[in-house]
Amino acid sequence: MSKNWRPATKLVHGGTLRSPYGETSEAIFLTQGFVYESSEAAEARFKGENDGYIYARYGSPTNDMFEKRMCMLEGAEDSRAMASGMAAVAAAVLCQVKAGDHIVAARALFGSCRYVVETLAPRYGVECTLVDGRDLANWEAAIRPNTKVMFLESPTNPTLEVIDVAGVAKLANQIGAKLIVDNVFATPLFQKPLELGAHVVVYSATKHIDGQGRCLGGVVLSSKEWINENLHDYFRHTGPAMSPFNAWTLLKGIETLPLRVKQQTSTAAAIADFLAEQGAIAKVIYPGRADHPQADIIAKQMTGGSTLLCFEMKGGKEAAFKLQNALEIIKISNNLGDAKSLITHPATTTHKNLSDEARAELGISGGTVRLSCGIEDTQDLLDDISQALKGL
Ligand SMILES: Cc1ncc(COP(=O)(O)O)c(C=O)c1O
Repeated sequence: MSKNWRPATKLVHGGTLRSPYGETSEAIFLTQGFVYESSEAAEARFKGENDGYIYARYGSPTNDMFEKRMCMLEGAEDSRAMASGMAAVAAAVLCQVKAGDHIVAARALFGSCRYVVETLAPRYGVECTLVDGRDLANWEAAIRPNTKVMFLESPTNPTLEVIDVAGVAKLANQIGAKLIVDNVFATPLFQKPLELGAHVVVYSATKHIDGQGRCLGGVVLSSKEWINENLHDYFRHTGPAMSPFNAWTLLKGIETLPLRVKQQTSTAAAIADFLAEQGAIAKVIYPGRADHPQADIIAKQMTGGSTLLCFEMKGGKEAAFKLQNALEIIKISNNLGDAKSLITHPATTTHKNLSDEARAELGISGGTVRLSCGIEDTQDLLDDISQALKGL
């Protein structure tokens, strides 16, 4: 029955485990370990003969609820909750490669994700080729006989490029490689990578899933088979587990995900349309607009636009800084997906570690600004941007 629930119902009730006290809200089990009724019971637990918990680094009830709820939403068989989005990305990549393997990844990745595939993996003998992910021919050309992993983010941070997930998954399947999709920007509501053929989905739960700026979290979702064969032991023995307190916070956050994302997306669409008409703006990139360069792929693989938009100020860095500094409601921050609207200048913050050339390849200039829309009143946000533009 619960399988047929629509997302909003799954996000309130999915995976709930109630203690004998019958609490309404999910309980937090802040415990490191568990006790056993007898030596025989402990032995049986360690042999895997019963399903109980062993140690919070392996799993615990609050985390279990979060993992099950995420599985229901994503349509995944299994998942592991991690301490941050980056713990999830690093685990998803590193748990399945060995020296001599090869990774193909889109070059438009969040900076830390790029570090994992471009800098960290090669230190352990895993080579990586970065491609312009917008063209499937580039993925195909980069494939080698030893390619084991393909990795992409779509829409990308910050320029909201879109990659054909089903197309890349098809190429991965032809060579038995596994496609990992970082679905942070799309949210689990607007894009279902597993249905499009991806093998593994990762989230920074820090973003829309918490959505209220409180705690870090991440999650890796896939088939039971992939998790058992690749992630299960890596997760237990390297220790990236999420704190049960954070799992509880995220369980409460995820209940309101559809309400927040709906409001944030309708505001983002309104602001994108408003900015597209302003003389100070050279370009607006928004996945919900007909003029998005990959509007055809968006129509194929996404069911909504985005809570984020990206735009280019004609006056470069100086104008971008002036605009950000003049805003009253919208705050300057590198975070995203929050209830509060947040604005970022990627070239000097989130993407400052890239070379000038790499930034240019990704379309990030001094004038590029990323806006993550919150749940404030849409008109108040439009008024805030309007007054800041007038002061330029
Ligand atoms: C696309 C993407 N992936 C992963 C991460 C990493 O998430 P966390 O900060 O929770 O480690 C971020 C953070 O901004 C992100 O934007």
